[in-house]
Formats: sequence, C-alpha cells, structure tokens
Amino acid sequence: MSHYQITSLEHYHEAYAESVSNPDKFWGDIAEENFKWMKKWDNVCDWNFSEPKVEWFKGAQLNITENCLDRHLEERGNKLALIWEPNDPKERFIRYTYRELYEKVCQMANVLKKHGIKKGDRVAIYMPMIPELTISVLACARIGAIHSVVFAGFSAHSLADRINDAEAKMVLTSDGLYRGAKEIPVKRVVDEALQTCPSVKTVLVAERTRWAVNMVEGRDFWLHDELDTVNKECPAEPMNSEDMLFILYTSGSTGKPKGVVHTCGGYMVYAGYSFKNVFQYEESDIYWCTADIGWITGHTYIVYGPLINGATTVMFEGVPTFPDAGRFWQVCDKYGVNQFYTAPTAIRALMAKGEDHVLSYSLDSLRVIGTVGEPINEEAWQWYYIHVGKEKCPVVDTWWQTETGGIMISGLGKHSPMKPAHAGYPLPGIQPVLLDQEGNEIEGNEEEGYLCVKHPWPSILRTTYGDHERCRVTYFSHYKGYYFTGDGARRDENGMYRIIGRVDDVINVSGHRFGTAEIENAINANDLVAESAVVGYPHDIKGQGIYAYVITKNPVQNEDILRAEIVETVVEEIGKIAKPDKIQFVSGLPKTRSGKIMRRILRKVAEGDTSSLGDTSTLLDPDVVDEIKNGAL
Ligand code: PRX
Repeated sequence: MSHYQITSLEHYHEAYAESVSNPDKFWGDIAEENFKWMKKWDNVCDWNFSEPKVEWFKGAQLNITENCLDRHLEERGNKLALIWEPNDPKERFIRYTYRELYEKVCQMANVLKKHGIKKGDRVAIYMPMIPELTISVLACARIGAIHSVVFAGFSAHSLADRINDAEAKMVLTSDGLYRGAKEIPVKRVVDEALQTCPSVKTVLVAERTRWAVNMVEGRDFWLHDELDTVNKECPAEPMNSEDMLFILYTSGSTGKPKGVVHTCGGYMVYAGYSFKNVFQYEESDIYWCTADIGWITGHTYIVYGPLINGATTVMFEGVPTFPDAGRFWQVCDKYGVNQFYTAPTAIRALMAKGEDHVLSYSLDSLRVIGTVGEPINEEAWQWYYIHVGKEKCPVVDTWWQTETGGIMISGLGKHSPMKPAHAGYPLPGIQPVLLDQEGNEIEGNEEEGYLCVKHPWPSILRTTYGDHERCRVTYFSHYKGYYFTGDGARRDENGMYRIIGRVDDVINVSGHRFGTAEIENAINANDLVAESAVVGYPHDIKGQGIYAYVITKNPVQNEDILRAEIVETVVEEIGKIAKPDKIQFVSGLPKTRSGKIMRRILRKVAEGDTSSLGDTSTLLDPDVVDEIKNGAL
C-alpha cells in the first residue's frame, strides 16, 4: 500500500509504525514512487547525531525544479501553478500555468547564468511577495545556485550580515514594495547594505512600484531588460542529493542569526510528503498559505511543497488588515480556496476586529485550515474553527521549525483527532520524545519535558552555514543522540502534543523568532545605552511582546524621546519587526555573583507577576529588584 497519501486514521497508524520500524524502506518507497530522480541512491539514510552527519538518498541525483515543474508539463501544463494576489485589491491578479511558470523559471535561470552564476554560488534574494520572488527561488534551484532569501522587512544591516555570511555573489531585489498602506524603498535598503558587501558583483532589480531608483553602472540591471535577452529553455542542473539547496537565516539564543542549510533530496521528499498529507491536497484544489517566502513556511509551503504536488498555490503580497480586516476572506472567496494556512497572530489580529468581517464572506470552499509559527491559544483556535472553518473544517495546528524543513507534528486534514491548542501527533517518520533535565526519556502521557527528536527525517537541517560546530552545539549537544528543538512540550492523556513554547532565550513575536541577545546587541548599539536585558512577555495579538530593561550611560532626561531613539536603533540594526514594545529604564539588572542576569525575575516583572519572584538572596544587589518592580510598565 502506498503511504504517499494517508487516507484514514488507521492508515496513519500503519504508516507510522512502518516508518519507525523500517525508516529506510518507508522513505525509500515514497522517494521512488513519487519523485523524479536522475540517478537512484545507493543508501536511503546514513547518519549520526554526534558529528552530526545526516545524509539522505546518498548517491542519487535530482533537480527539485524538475519535480516542481517539468514533470507536470505533460499532464498539468495548462493547470494553474501560481496565482498572485496583489496588495491592493483594485490591482489585477497574475496567474501562471505550469507551462508558463516553467518558462519564466528557465528564463530567469538563464539570466542568472548570463551574469556568471554557477552551481554552488550563493544568491541573496531580498524581494517583496511578487511572482519574481517565487521565480527567482526556483531559478536558483534550476542551476544549482544556493538561494538565501532574506525577508524584505529586515534592515540594511541585517541584510548585509546575511549576504556577507554566505558571501553571496548576486542580489535579486525590486525597486520598492507595497505592504498594506506602507511603501518601502527596497532598492535603497539594498544599496545601503551593499556598501559593506564586497562579494556582490551583480544586482538584478524587478520592477514593482516604478519608483526612480539608483542604478549602479555595471552592477545593477533591470530584470525585465535582462529577461528579454534570453531563451525559455534551461536544462536542470543535476544535483547530488546532499548538495545544498538553500540557506535560510534564523535566530538562536546566542550570537548572530545562523544560516540553516537544507539540501536537495531529503528536503524535496519531505516537503512533498508533508504538504500532501497535512493539507490533504486533491488535484483540483486551490491552496493558499499567507506566509512570506522570506520565512521557512513560505519556502516549503508556498513554493516547494505545493509545486512538487502539482498544486495551485496562491501567493499574496498584502497583509490581513488592508484595506480592511476582511481581506483574507475576500481572497478565499475570490479564488475558491480549499486549504488555508496562516499564523495565530493573524487570527488574533482579525479576531480583535470583530466577526462582521469574516461573516460577510461565504468561505464555502474551505476544507482544511491551518496555523503555524507559534502556539495558538484556545480562544483564537475556537474563533478560527467556528467563524472561518464553520465548524466543518479540521484545524491543522502545525508545529515545526526552520531547522526541521517541514511540518513535524500536526493533524493530517480530517484524518486526525483534533484538540484546541494541541498540534497533535507526529507525522510518519517523525519520532518526538520528551526529555527531563538529565536527558532521560519521559515515558507515558500527561507529562511535560524538553521536546527532542530521535531519528533523522529527510528534511532535518544538515549544518549551519560556515560553522558546523555551531550546529552541533546548538542542536545535538544538549542531549546525546537527539535533535534538541528548543521547545518545551506536553503530552496529554491521549499522547497528543501541546507545544508550550521556547525553553531557551528565543522569543517568538508574531511568529517571528528573535534571540534575546540579538535584540540586546541592537539596543546596545545606541550610544546612550550602557547595558540591556530583553525578555518576552505575553501579548494579546503578537503572542509574545518584547520587553527591554535598559541601563543608560547618563541620567535619562526625557524617557519618551530616549525610548524612540532606542527603537530607531533597533529598527536600523534588525528591522521594524524587532521593535521593543516596552522599554523600562533601570539603574541595574538582577545579577548573580558570577555576573549572570537572572532572567526569571525580569520575565516575572514583564508578565506583571511580581508577587512570586522566588529566591533573590543570591543576587549581587537584591535592592535592584525593588526598583525594577516599582518601575514596571
Ligand atoms: O517555538 C516553536 C514555534 O516556532 C519555532 C520555530 O520558529 P521558526 O523556525 O521561525 O519557524 C516557524 C514556522 C515553522 C518553534 O521552535 N512554533 C512553530 N509552530 C508552532 C510553534 N509553537 C507552537 N505551535 C506551533 N504550531
């Protein structure tokens, strides 16, 4: 029996059991039957988590774009591959059939080649959610260039860091972007970034807003001019299964964001498999994921997963609340969307605007609705289930990470039991465990622990770009023999997983990950700041907000002005998405005698819970706690 599409709960159990007892056979069969390979593998999976070294389908050759495009041409050449919905509903949408998308990707790939991009070169993509973004991603994959998409809301500084870390040769961008009521001069950000990026030789600029931009002679080219000079055929580069497909930067608890590396074969198989099963996609369905391709969700579930399955994928340039809070639902009705995938933060923002916006649309076509990126609270879950899903659509609460490449724990459409705020059961091939402090596996249900994973799955990260040791230390050293997720989780009485949240110094703001150290470094970049400490606190819409405790070098004259200046520094250093929500000025931080900040206390104060601060006797200066408590915002 094929396990590529799970068709019932019994089937899930059967597939799961097989995937654990014989992972090589399980994944080998799926890879063989459902994907196009140029050369077959010698081994399905070789691995150890101590180096770590993980290799899937070693010896095989493939090109993921052949699986996303070429192989559909015969059967689905005229089927819609991509529907692009603009920011402004008054503007016209754009649609590409599989044949058209294939030609666009080949053309773009030829432009990259013309500018000297070869297999293994890194290409940074800093673009708004326009079709050229999807096309660029696929064009890189077509010729074996490694894409590094940077969300076009990051600052010039962040962009430069990512370009330099990967030593990208080329940047793909646009003149400007529209996002809701905002207009952002994207090319200007790139120009600023490139002042410190010696590796970049070429910039290709897509036209979106038609604003006048600075074009540097010999470096910058208009994409549309370049596309006119090349043909529509470009052979797919044969890639080894373990060749890099892309780098995507994400924040951790220490230091600068790291480049998570995914490779060709395993990522392809898991992206295809997980998409098909979680969303239960059927041939004529219209699927829409509202994420930005700048994040892993967009990579796997706007671009690769859907296209591998020959799906019609909707790409949306805008935001949920522009021009009004009915925008998502209007788009669902407009295209007859069958599977809808969004983030809890969007649901909460829309919930706050009242039911009228959603009740004015029929949403009849919806069959599966999903969430991703952060824990969904029960109230938001119910609102989504009742008002969007009309109590007939399963809600798939999908838990996964940039590092996991694809969805790990989630319902599979209607085939799984569901429970509000619970991601549920692992997908076939995924072996989650809960560990205690000492690293022992916690058996049984109604238990809580550190969420780790036992055996590799095909799309597990392979390394962090340029620093394999960092990958080992971050993910594979806490508990020997396990991949450590950084999340805490609970198994309920039926073994369903509920993700509690990060157990490290990572905060999740509107589904975006930041390291507290990363934000502190940004705050400290302000000349007036001596030291800072950042924690997350519960936020009604964003899930977590950013609370910063700041010590200034000199006495504060005007708190509001200084706050605005610090926020501005963070915007310059990281981007608007990392703006602190609250800044409290303090004269000291609660530190232990060894100089370690006791974040537990800072978290409690930020949460507004000052009654139970626990033992503060080990602090260097216990008085500072009273001051912090009294000044809480
Ligand atoms: O804490 C978990 C949370 O998001 C983290 C991963 O963030 P990122 O790599 O940016 O990827 C987000 C999109 C896949 C996780 O460690 N997270 C993600 N999905 C869920 C979640 N927390 C609870 N429930 C989820 N469904």
